[in-house]
Amino acid sequence: MNLILMGLPGAGKGTQAEKIVDEYQVPHISTGDMFRQAIKEETELGKQAKSYMDEGALVPDEVTIGIVRERLEKPDCKKGFLLDGFPRTVAQAEALENLLQDLGRKLDHVLYIDVAYDDLFKRLTGRWISPTSGATYHEIYNPPETPGVCDKDGSELIQRDDDKPETVEKRLKVNLEQTQPLVDFYKDKGYLRSIDGNQDIHDVFASITQWLKGTE
Ligand code: AP5
Ligand code: ZN
Repeated sequence: MNLILMGLPGAGKGTQAEKIVDEYQVPHISTGDMFRQAIKEETELGKQAKSYMDEGALVPDEVTIGIVRERLEKPDCKKGFLLDGFPRTVAQAEALENLLQDLGRKLDHVLYIDVAYDDLFKRLTGRWISPTSGATYHEIYNPPETPGVCDKDGSELIQRDDDKPETVEKRLKVNLEQTQPLVDFYKDKGYLRSIDGNQDIHDVFASITQWLKGTE
């Protein structure tokens, strides 16, 4: 299954991706996670991406498309993939079409997690993650069993650098501008399925699996 998970920052892409890859055993390809890993490892890519991410801006298309191309060419993607946070511009979507054509693959679905704009800010500023496994929590909506500690690996939870209120505002603005043209792009092609992301985490996942099972 070749899937794209779309949604504004905080819509729940990462949260649902964790569950989808468990269920469908496809690799989770998150451009945001790849950039964060590169920043941690202080690679050239990390240096390039950091200045944009700190500003809440998008990393330039050519850089982002390059890392996705490299990742999709890896053998584990032959069984399918789940793209999270890519594409995010129409130029990236067009590049992905060419790339998939080169690889002799095609998209199955684009799932758009739709969440009321006013809730996104609360979701992002209350998010806590495990620095080791990347597991995601929310201090109110999805708290860990032991406050401040990841249930899966026992690590102490941290907040993302770009979840500071002022950066969140910029990220939401930048992504809002890019999202509608991208939604229209995939709607026109008949791939887009909108999922109600205003439900609790388990109900959002149930809506996703119900849709995917119905289309297998
Ligand atoms: P990225 O890491 O992709 O960030 P994002 O798109 O801003 O999205 P988030 O990861 O913040 O949110 P999410 O939808 O995954 O929500 P989550 O599940 O964590 O990208 C970061 C940066 O990298 C970008 O700003 C850009 O600079 C760069 N970048 C990445 N891709 C790029 C691209 N293609 N092109 C250019 N630049 C790119 O959930 C959020 C919170 O809500 C959590 O606390 C969670 O517990 C909670 N939550 C989740 N679901 C629910 C629910 N149903 N109800 C209540 N709470 C919920
Ligand atoms: Zn995410």
